Amino acid sequence: MSVDVEQFLERMTWEQKLLQLQIVWRTDAAERDDLVRRGLGATFWPPSAADVNALQRIAVEQTEPGIPVLIGLDVVHGQFTIFPTPLAQAASFDPQVAAEDARISAVEARSNGVTWTFSPMVDVTRDPRWGRVVEGFGEDVHLASAFTAAKVAGYQGADLAAPDSVAACLKHFVAYGAAEAGRDYNTTDVSDRRLRETYLETFRVGVANGAAAVMASFNSLNGHPMHAHRALLTDVLKQEWGFDGVVVGDADGVAQLVDHGVAADERAAIALALEAGVDVVMGGSLLVDADGTALLTPADVSPDRIDDAVRRVLRMKDRLGLFENPYTDAAAAVGGSPEHRARARRAAERCAVLLTNGGALPLPASGRILLAGPYARSRDHLGAWVQHFASPVGETLADALERELPDIAWDVADGADFFELADEHLADIVERAASADLVVLALGEPSRLSGEAASRADIALPGAQRRLIHALADAGARIVVVLATGRPLVVEDWIDRVDASLCTWHLGTEAPAAIAATLSARVNPGGRVPMTFPRAVGQVPIHHDHERTGRPPRTGGELLRGIDAVASDAADLAGPNNTDDHYTSKFLDLPLGARFDFGHGLSYTTFALDGLAVTPGAVGMDTLDAGVDVHVTVRNTGERDGDDVVMLFVTDEVASVTQPVRRLRGFRRVSLAAGEPAAVAFRLTADDLSFWVDGATRVVEPGDFALTVGDGTSSLTARLRVEASR
Ligand code: NOJ
Repeated sequence: MSVDVEQFLERMTWEQKLLQLQIVWRTDAAERDDLVRRGLGATFWPPSAADVNALQRIAVEQTEPGIPVLIGLDVVHGQFTIFPTPLAQAASFDPQVAAEDARISAVEARSNGVTWTFSPMVDVTRDPRWGRVVEGFGEDVHLASAFTAAKVAGYQGADLAAPDSVAACLKHFVAYGAAEAGRDYNTTDVSDRRLRETYLETFRVGVANGAAAVMASFNSLNGHPMHAHRALLTDVLKQEWGFDGVVVGDADGVAQLVDHGVAADERAAIALALEAGVDVVMGGSLLVDADGTALLTPADVSPDRIDDAVRRVLRMKDRLGLFENPYTDAAAAVGGSPEHRARARRAAERCAVLLTNGGALPLPASGRILLAGPYARSRDHLGAWVQHFASPVGETLADALERELPDIAWDVADGADFFELADEHLADIVERAASADLVVLALGEPSRLSGEAASRADIALPGAQRRLIHALADAGARIVVVLATGRPLVVEDWIDRVDASLCTWHLGTEAPAAIAATLSARVNPGGRVPMTFPRAVGQVPIHHDHERTGRPPRTGGELLRGIDAVASDAADLAGPNNTDDHYTSKFLDLPLGARFDFGHGLSYTTFALDGLAVTPGAVGMDTLDAGVDVHVTVRNTGERDGDDVVMLFVTDEVASVTQPVRRLRGFRRVSLAAGEPAAVAFRLTADDLSFWVDGATRVVEPGDFALTVGDGTSSLTARLRVEASR
């Protein structure tokens, strides 16, 4: 600590304290300056380093007590240089990708005067209708937790006061991703056990990794709007986890307690939120109006609570080094740079997922290829949550492919739209396809179809894009689909009609170059889906680690359980209508399982796993803390270099509480030269074998655990016995 926060508290008036507890956005500079002159605690980016310095000068020199202002901004996957969306990053199964994104984000943002990013979004997401799935790390709590930790470390660096660090904010606390029907802002109702097991866990990890702030979520949870949820904001987050950072409300989220119907007016809403544990109110009515009148009195919110909130805000400012140096070296401000773009490109090259491949990929080096579809020429690759100052995507996929594969005779069909498809355009494409060896169809969702307030009830390819696929398939064309999307889509009606499909998500500033390199095989795709692709909207919410039921689907007398129960080839086992065994948990009108399970992804090479060993194979509860080692060998059995993702799943076979069919407990992305083997080791600890019995206790129960190591294509299983004592 460089300043004595308590001394500030002693000097500050009630009004000055309240003003520290607010962040407002004002586009009018004079209005914003005036608010800061009155002692406002935080505002959104002005937007330049010089403007930030001018504001800080007002805060420090023209106010009493002279407290610097926090400058917030949503730098979600880049400010100027845009990295792949967080969901795309999760597909890399390489947390370094998120760390790298956060590092570059921090360098660009802090050097321009931003001190507080409203990121990462760590909501676990199991419903692809929800548009915000694009901002998070997918459905799996273990994967999402690893990315949470990486992102926090990347933003905050070793020292928050460094000129290239920003304060991270975990959002949205909590269970926002469980919105009923995937409709944004909707109600959630989640058991205590699932809350602990799934939705709280990424936040717990983020807090343990030092995240400076947490944002409350818009949803109500089990009847309590989160901005007024004292039991979670204060009892769990601050007391149980010891979080000493700042809890910020979401945009107007405090005022919306009135809309939720738990506060009569905004004044009551603010009092309720502050008492519940919100420290900083985002937007809404000013806590102190222009003539200096405070909206609340000490009778509305206890002075101790206000002091605690102010203490948290001042502590964050101090950790950011703002009291020592509130100013930014405006001459050193970094926007995009060739180096940052190169790093964004390397990240983008790790995120694409090869969904299917009947041999049409990689593209040949010569011949005639027709490139069609909206993404042939669209530069809409940045994805959700970027702002107007983001560096533009410089080239189109057509440009990048022509550069990457110059010996191909490229025919580029212009004029495709994301939604409309004129009959003449369709006829023209089909005709041109007849003289091509192959058609690359670049399709997908434009960025605005995912992100905040962008839920979709139908998660098919939008507009008439599917017509394009079917018309070309009917005409006998050989088709490669490039699928740029903010969420898993339902692809059931067309995926088997195309010869290969590559899911690229929204890969950011360098998307076209990264996609072209992947199509040509200069980069071998190594991503895996971090969210299950359902066969139909009716299956959602859907996730690989679903709990067991009393009537799992059976077929051919065999019990499909665990990893097999959601295998994407289960359709063959189950028969078209899946009625072999009637009274089981399934849909009559769908084959069993998802279209692409969590962890699915192909490569231009092949891999084999062998030598799974668990040591010790039996362990006593009393010695569990020493850990259990799981070893496996993965070998590149093909002729190209490539990356495999090795995943470790644990199944607790008999427990006092119904368990998931499997839980991811480790993953490793390994780069292997053709023919190369690698030893992969995981260490399981008591934590990995434990589960929440209710909202309060976490236990390991003795018994057998199935350990499955797989890479999405094949798997090996071994057994671990945990004995009461040994
Ligand atoms: C509302 C969004 O829910 C949140 O994620 C974001 O950080 C704030 N707006 C501020 O832009």
